[in-house]
Formats: sequence, structure tokens, C-alpha cells
Amino acid sequence: MAEAVWGHSPAGIIGYSHALGGWAGSHASFIRVPFADVNVFKVPEGIPDEKALFVSDACPTGFMGADLAGIQSGDIVAVWGCGGVGQMAMQSARILGAERVFAIDRFPERLRMASEHCGAEALNYEEVDIPEALTELTGGRGPDRCIDCVGMEAHGMGVGYLYDLAKQQALLTERIVALREAIRCCRKGGTVSVMGVYGAFVDKFPMGAVVNKALTIRSGQQHGQRYVDRLFGHIERGEMDPSHLLTHPMSLEQGPRGYDLFKNKKEGCVRAVFTP
Ligand SMILES: NC(=O)c1ccc[n+]([C@@H]2O[C@H](COP(=O)([O-])OP(=O)(O)OC[C@H]3O[C@@H](n4cnc5c(N)ncnc54)[C@H](O)[C@@H]3O)[C@@H](O)[C@H]2O)c1
Repeated sequence: MAEAVWGHSPAGIIGYSHALGGWAGSHASFIRVPFADVNVFKVPEGIPDEKALFVSDACPTGFMGADLAGIQSGDIVAVWGCGGVGQMAMQSARILGAERVFAIDRFPERLRMASEHCGAEALNYEEVDIPEALTELTGGRGPDRCIDCVGMEAHGMGVGYLYDLAKQQALLTERIVALREAIRCCRKGGTVSVMGVYGAFVDKFPMGAVVNKALTIRSGQQHGQRYVDRLFGHIERGEMDPSHLLTHPMSLEQGPRGYDLFKNKKEGCVRAVFTP
């Protein structure tokens, strides 16, 4: 399937889609880890489980989003999406030297977390026009680095979103409102880093803006092995702290409810965490 759609089959991912191997996930009492000599890491003594857990996904994904964005000291960074990935991208942007970080979403509780735990300035896209606000807040330039932590499940306002929704019904596109907006907002010569997942094809991709503003676009599934040890270090030194993402601790038996809360963003759920 992967070769047919993408030209190559990139990797297997545990608990992910059939295009990436269809491997069972890790929500179980025990799991067998293939190639365990490279695929498991020892958690340092001082890091509790509720922090270490996030080093498997939200932390490296957010960090890679900031890393691929090429953040330099003093940069202004805008992050679309205040889920676990977006919030860790914000903390990572700070670690890498960003001077200001803007957080974009529509859920007030997530925007509040972004400002309280990630040092970001919150922008609710249901209340303000994001391109206008970012232009104004950056003195007309636009953010240096824009990070898409939303992906194909984006929601939005206006004609572009309705267009995506309609064409998605016929499997002709995925919803790329957040990515379009990031490309539109990014300053000339800036970088757009895409950690939000897209699966196949998207429509009305603003290639003209990419070419004429000389934007760099980078993306990828997170490279866990590359970042895990470094992230343990950031957590040990208190530079990164994902523990507030754990909004709903529950038992493994409550898994279906946890998935429902997470998927539909009910009861302020950011991450449901199951203890076997
Ligand atoms: N590349 C990778 O390796 C990797 C790894 C993990 C997750 N992901 C992807 O990262 C993305 C985010 O993951 P998550 O767990 O934080 O998801 P999440 O659903 O918890 O958060 C996504 C956030 O985006 C917000 N959003 C929706 N439309 C928006 C818009 N138009 N503008 C701004 N914000 C908008 C939602 O309100 C939500 O808060 C997903 O696409 C996920 O699949 C990628």
C-alpha cells in the first residue's frame, strides 16, 4: 500500500496504520519489542513514569518539529495545534532559543496550558483572524518558523475549510487548513515544519507561496531513536516537562472511554493514560 501511494515503504510503526505495517499497538499488559537492542531505552532513575511515558511520542515529535524548523536564537515561532505534540513543540522551541512562541488552537483549556506550561502567547482562531494577528504581532514580517502540529484532522473556519470538508467526502483531499495557513503566515525565507500527519493527497496546496516566498518545508514521522536520550536530559534539567499533558489517568479496561475522550476532546482530555 505504501509503495503504491508514496513510491516507497518507509518503515514499520507499532500501533499505527496498515500502510506502516499494521503492527499491534502497545496498550497491553506486556508487549514484545522487535529489535529491542535499538528500540528500547532505559529510563533514568530520577524520571517518573508519567514524564517518561511522553518521551515515546509527544516529546520527540514536538522536539523534532522545532528541530526541523531550524530555530535560531531570537526567532519568532508559531505553532498550530495545542495538543500534546504542539505543546511539546512550544517547549522545544524555547529550548532551542525562540524569543516568542505563538500557540494557535480553538480550545480555551489547551490554549491556557500552552501559555501556562509552554511560555506561549495564545491565539484562538475562532476569535481572531490568525494571518492578520500574526502579521500585526510580528511587525508585518510574519513568524520566522511555523510548525504544523494539527495534520489532516484539522478544523477551521471559512471557505477553505468547507472546500476541504466537501472534497474529503469523495476522498479527493485531506483537510489542510492549518498547513495552508502556516504557509501563508510564514515570513519570506522562513521554514514550515510539518509534524501533523497527512496520509495521501491534499488539494489547493499553496505552492505559489512556497516558491515565491522561498520557504523551506520539512516533515517526517518522528525519529524517536535520535531524540530520546537528549530529551531525558532536558527533562532531568527541568527544561522540558510533559507531565501536565496527562489529564486522564485510567485503567486499561477503561481504554475505549479514554479513546473517546481523547478523539473527541471531551472533558478537557489531552492525553488519556492507561495503567495495566
Ligand atoms: N509526525 C509524527 O511522528 C507524529 C507523531 C505523533 C503525532 N503526530 C501527529 O501530530 C498531530 C497532533 O497530534 P496531537 O496528539 O497533539 O493531536 P491532538 O488532536 O490532541 O491536537 C491537535 C490540535 O490541533 C487543533 N486544531 C485543529 N484544527 C486547527 C487549526 N485549523 N488551527 C490550529 N489548531 C487546530 C485541535 O483543536 C487540537 O487541539 C496529529 O496529526 C498526529 O497524528 C505526528
